[in-house]
Amino acid sequence: MCGLFAYVGSVNAVPILLDGLRSVEYRGYDSAGISVITESGSIETRKRGDHKASLNNLHSAVTDDQLFGLVGIGHTRWATHGVVNHANSHPHSSVDGSISIAHNGIIENFLDIRDELLDSGVELSSETDSEVIAHLAGNYLATGHSLRDSLVKTVGQLKGNMVVIAVATSEPSKVVGLRLGNAGGIVVGKNEDSAFMASDTVALLSHTAEVVYLESGQVVEIESGSFRLFDFNGKPIEGKSVKTDQSFRAAQKGKYPDFMSKEIAEQPEAIQRAIAGRVNLVSGELEMPEITLSANQIRSIDRVLITGMGTSLHAGMFGASMIESLARIPASAENSSELRYRNPVIGSNTLIIAVTQSGETADTLAAMEYASQQGSCQIAVLEQEGSQAARIADFTLPIHAGQEIGVASTKTMIASMTTLLELSIFLARVRSVIDVDRVKQLVEQISTLPSLVASTLDRNGETSDVAKHLAKFTDLLYLGRGSQLPIALEGALKMKELAYIHAEGYPAGEMKHGVNALLGADMPTVVCAPNNHLYEKMLSNISEVKARGGEVMAIVSDSDDTLERIVDQVIRIPDCSEFLQPFLTLVPLQLLAYTTALELGRDPDQPRNLAKTVTVE
Ligand code: F6R
Repeated sequence: MCGLFAYVGSVNAVPILLDGLRSVEYRGYDSAGISVITESGSIETRKRGDHKASLNNLHSAVTDDQLFGLVGIGHTRWATHGVVNHANSHPHSSVDGSISIAHNGIIENFLDIRDELLDSGVELSSETDSEVIAHLAGNYLATGHSLRDSLVKTVGQLKGNMVVIAVATSEPSKVVGLRLGNAGGIVVGKNEDSAFMASDTVALLSHTAEVVYLESGQVVEIESGSFRLFDFNGKPIEGKSVKTDQSFRAAQKGKYPDFMSKEIAEQPEAIQRAIAGRVNLVSGELEMPEITLSANQIRSIDRVLITGMGTSLHAGMFGASMIESLARIPASAENSSELRYRNPVIGSNTLIIAVTQSGETADTLAAMEYASQQGSCQIAVLEQEGSQAARIADFTLPIHAGQEIGVASTKTMIASMTTLLELSIFLARVRSVIDVDRVKQLVEQISTLPSLVASTLDRNGETSDVAKHLAKFTDLLYLGRGSQLPIALEGALKMKELAYIHAEGYPAGEMKHGVNALLGADMPTVVCAPNNHLYEKMLSNISEVKARGGEVMAIVSDSDDTLERIVDQVIRIPDCSEFLQPFLTLVPLQLLAYTTALELGRDPDQPRNLAKTVTVE
């Protein structure tokens, strides 16, 4: 989850490290720190553990004391072991100051190692698991090992998934990085006289047009203008260079006050890009060139299991309902952290679909690894095409939403839903469950989605009053049925993570089985109730909430003239066919959470205790 950045070159590393850390700060913002090798050959470390102010405060600190060096590493932290403070901030150094390291991941046998270090007389200066790396590697350096060997030998003693970057006084012109398992990526790049490492390609865009992704079990040494890859036995490896997608440069706020409002507003374009190359309006076909399975292979699929976490799981739930109803294949969606450990029965006829915008979520990757071992075919629906998920999957379906910076996912959810809807039509067509005319009709309807979402966004104002009202409560309930259930769950998740208001997403039919006991004037209910085949059922549920004194805010279709007479407030979405409605009800729920967050003075881009990419389980 943490962000890493490293630089070796011919100019001062300090501003470059700070700039790089700014790009990976979305991965964690509990602390920020850098270590540089100064002209005298010693390591100087500066760090700040001031929550979200860390990077700005670090910036002031290093500017004030004019820190200078040509080689350095940096880290932004998402706390796992130890509270947020200065001592627990990275980088961490060995007692003799010979090495400084920054770490992303979790050391599972950290308590044992820590006890051994304490028994041997080492005084630890933090509560982190990471610090032990500096001491262990420092011991190897002291017995004459190179920095690379010292790090490899150190991680040989550790259990868990991790990425480590380090500098040492014994080799003052290089930074060494290594990756063990799936604790988020590490990307390497160079230009004429510099070389870099970062947790995310986006941090290298202004420095290089090509990158190499480090695989698990690989170690890299970067020096001015060059880098070399090795396996853990020291054998040199040829890294595969990948061209960077320079369109990521668009990751600027522009005219928007924050990334979240920008990314919500970008949703029509995100859908448009997810449609391009797949929805063919001329032929009326739905093409999926990325999936090269034969028709027989597609017909032999007897079950689809979609997996992901958080918002991506909600997109997956929507996808499962589309695949089952359109392609008539039994389909379900399951949280990856549950799936990976419950020894599920999956096999060669199960199609696994992993939904993960980052492609680096630890639990999702572990569930995918499990599915690979069981011989299941896997499709990854993702944004980051160079990610670990893309390498595990048999096929990738890029969602093309564009880089999402806001920690809370918005446009990547809508683009994942679009892609899953397209996949369900593709599967249905290949399995001959729907005919050419039906595909043509669906394709025409999907092509209207960008303008439908744009027109839903234009009604933005309707949510403001509701948001102001909801901000007064500590508990909210979100209800949906059928394909609106994942949207209700997502609305509640957005409200929790952005506004820090407790919100429950629930199947409306489940209310009578316990939750009705909570109903009353102190807990408003937000319902997704567009005109669809479950509308009458929702109407009954809404009446039940009203009968118990609960306030109801309803997302309704334009043509609905019933609900405004029953509920306390309506937010309208354009009329459209039922299978497109979830895209439209999602938008006001995102806006509600965003506006409520602003109303309560929260930072929508960096909610507390969260990180964009969750690379630890
Ligand atoms: C919530 C949110 C998270 C992510 C989840 C999975 O707004 O963004 O719930 O959806 O961490 O991330 P990816 O899609 O990168 O696997």
